[in-house]
Parts: sequence; C-alpha cells; structure tokens
Amino acid sequence: MVKSDVLIIGSGIAGLAVAEKARHAKKVVILTKKGSLDGNSALAQGGVAVAMQAGDHWEAHFRDTMAAGCQMNDSKSVSLLVQKGPVYVKEWMEKGFLFDHDSGGRLLFGKEAAHEHHRILHAGGDRTGLLLMSFMLQEIKEHVKLIENETVIDLLIEQQRCTGVCTRNEAGEITYYHADHVVLATGGVGRLYDLTSNHKSLSGDGLAMAYRAGCDFKDLEFIQFHPTLLWMNGESKGLISEAVRGEGAVLKTAKGKPIMAHEHPLKDLAPRDVVARVMFAYLQKGEDLYLDISMIQQFEARFPFITQLCVKHGISISEGKIPVAPGAHFHMGGVKTSLTGKTTVANLYAVGEVACLGVHGANRLASNSLLEGLVFGSRLGEHLAKQHLVDSIADAAQPLLPVRKLKLPTEAEIQQVMRTQVGIVRKQQSLEAAKSWFESYGVGDLPMKGVQLSEEQLNIWNMLTVGWLITSAALKRTVSIGAHYLQKESG
Ligand code: SIN
Repeated sequence: MVKSDVLIIGSGIAGLAVAEKARHAKKVVILTKKGSLDGNSALAQGGVAVAMQAGDHWEAHFRDTMAAGCQMNDSKSVSLLVQKGPVYVKEWMEKGFLFDHDSGGRLLFGKEAAHEHHRILHAGGDRTGLLLMSFMLQEIKEHVKLIENETVIDLLIEQQRCTGVCTRNEAGEITYYHADHVVLATGGVGRLYDLTSNHKSLSGDGLAMAYRAGCDFKDLEFIQFHPTLLWMNGESKGLISEAVRGEGAVLKTAKGKPIMAHEHPLKDLAPRDVVARVMFAYLQKGEDLYLDISMIQQFEARFPFITQLCVKHGISISEGKIPVAPGAHFHMGGVKTSLTGKTTVANLYAVGEVACLGVHGANRLASNSLLEGLVFGSRLGEHLAKQHLVDSIADAAQPLLPVRKLKLPTEAEIQQVMRTQVGIVRKQQSLEAAKSWFESYGVGDLPMKGVQLSEEQLNIWNMLTVGWLITSAALKRTVSIGAHYLQKESG
C-alpha cells in the first residue's frame, strides 16, 4: 500500500499544473498509464489562447469563447479562464518557458477559428504541447513521485468518500494507493472513434471509473470533431493544426471549389462544429477534400511538425494540397465539478478534459484546452496545498475477486457504432439503436468492479461504459446545438 497526500491520475497538462502547485505543501504522486508524454497535451500543436497582445482584452476572449460554445458555457468559469490565463501563462514564462517570438523579442500570436484576435501563443512552431509538457515535467520531477506504465483500474470508495485507487502494472500486479485527495486528470475519449486526433491511450478510463464511483456528469453529448486530420486511405495519420487555416489555408474539393466560402461569415475559420458538418456533407457525397496551403509562405519553418508528418506520408508541401477529413478531437463534457474541481464524491476532484465545469459550453474555442488545464489545474493545486489532511479511514480489506466471464464486443465494433451513430451528424433512431446495443452487453445494469476484469476486458468495458454514457446524454438533448447536431429521420 502506497500513501500520499495528493494522488493525481494522469500526466497531461492539467495533472502537472495541479502537481506543480500542490507539491509546495503536500506529498504528491502522479500515476500514468503509459509514458509521461503519451497523451493529448504533448500532441497539442496550435498553442495556448491568451489575451496578452496590445489591442486584445480578456473581454474579447470571453465573448469568443461564449460564442463558440453557443452561449451554453458557464460564464463564471469562462471569466476565470480568460482572466487567470495570462497570470498562469506568465508564471511559466518567468520560470523560463519560451513561446515563439520575433527577432525583437516580441511574442508571436497566431490566429485560429472563431477568435476575433491573433491570440494563440505557440512554441517550436507547431510543437507547443510537447515543448511545454517537457518543460513542466523537468520542473516538477524532483518534487513529485511519477509512476509510469501503471493503469488505474478503479477508485476506492469507503464511507462515501474516495480514499485512493487500485492499479495494475505491466506485470499484472495489483497495487493499492491511498491518498487524502484524489485527482482525476485522465483526459479525453478519442479512442472511442476510429478517426481521431487523440493519443491511443485516451479511451475514457476516467469517466468509466467516475461512473462506477457514483459521480455526476455534465454535457457528455458534446464531442468536438476537428475539421482537419491528415486523411489517407480512409485512415487518420495525425492532426493538421487549425493554425494552418489561421495562416490562410483554404478547404477545397478535389476540383478546387472552396467549401466554406458561402457557409459562414468566418469562412474557413468558422467554429469547428460548423466546418466539420460542411465537410461531412461533402464526404458523404463521396467528394475528397483537401487543404490548400499554397499561399502560406515558409510553411516548413512555421509548421515543422506538420511538414514532417506530411513528408512521412508522401505528401509534398510544395504541391500545396493536404488531404483532410474531420475526426474526434475533444470532449466538452465530463465529470461535473465545481470551480475548484470538486466532484460530487467527497475527496475526489477532476480537472482538464475529463472534467466539466461548463467552460466550453457546446463547442470548445480553439486553443482553450491547454489553457483550461493550466488555469484550472493550477487553481486546484493551490486549493489542495491549503487543505488539511483528512481523517484517515481504516482500510477496508479489498477482496480480490475472480475475473468475470463476459461476452464483449471488439474495440473496432464500438468505434463503428460511435462513428456511424453517435458522430458529427446524429439521428434520434440511430442514437436509440446505439444505446440498446451498448445495453445488450449489460452496461448500466451489471454492477462491476475494475478488479473483476482482465486488462483487455477492462479497456473494452470502460469504452462500452463511456459510449453508453455519451449516447444516453445525446438522447436526452432533443434539439441541435453546437457539437450535438440532430438530423431529421428521412422517410
Ligand atoms: C489545433 O492546433 O488545431 C488544435 C488546437 C486545439 O484543439 O485547441
């Protein structure tokens, strides 16, 4: 049994931001299921949105965030995001993190969809997440215990409060970790879809565990599809940042018709849900789409990572055409939390993509996710640093239960149901069919503990649980808004 004051599950930007603040007063342990950089934060290309440039103001960032979210956002959390963003970003700059700047030392601000101003800080061109995460890990590594390649299989709940977690390592050994405060920072759900920008470890474990622990959820139906994944032979090969459209790139059909010209006043920089739906309609008609980058000067220097990705897959940058299609990118909904990250289960917190405090509403504004992790992770860390230690609860013996026999679908079958029935465009009947399909495996019905499942079963069971939760939430929202778009049944 391992004991800590604060136990963080997940090593993305939100988890590291909690650790950096809490470690000043508390013993912190971070558990991560793969390597510390194997997640979405390190994959983030675009950057961090902050109103720090002359002529910009947090009120403009607030307006853009609310408009992208279809005014469904929680205005208090958006206010905190856009006002505290510059404060926490400056803290990391003061520690020595370098965002891209010009030869005169002035910060360079990029533009992305639905932003009124150039306000996206970036690093290494399009390697913002990787560089920022590497820097943060370097800063905290002496002060926290970081355990990699260990999967959390369940939260421990005793007397209605969270007292720790139970894990399985690569050798199959089970370990119990106890903590006064447990933080879910497990990220998103991209792997529920076969076309995704997400790291393959993002299969929604945190949501599934939170469900088994009895947490409340919010806005689970809102899944954001990023318009431009590099698309080859029906597969996604990685993200083509929206910053590319911010620099002027245009979405076109194979015949060269610009598809966004008459769809929205912001054209190619319309909110992501709008662009993804227009693309979906073309793809359904069998039209291939590409991103025309021919007008971008010095593409290779501004976007070195994307250049490498394209070259690796045989796409010539000088020809100026990148084949693209939309794919699952970000989950706006999640475990319902307060502004300090408290869930509805005592001593359990959630932060970052797994959490939902309503900051993104029905559709997230570009480059607000690293910012969310930084702002709400730091705030939670500061809160936890001030907390008293919790009266310990005698460890209830954890019975080791035999692995259950279950009939389960394959991962590909789950992804197919999610893509075709719970995707960019949804239909009431298809959602009902998907919900029944999930329930045919006993999800929502069979009481289950993670330790009763083998490693493979747990992965599938978690994906089934999360698919079912998202589908059930989608069925409850009967009007289209933001990323939840319902099409009338034909016939
Ligand atoms: C991108 O670079 O397009 C992704 C950034 C984001 O999702 O905010």
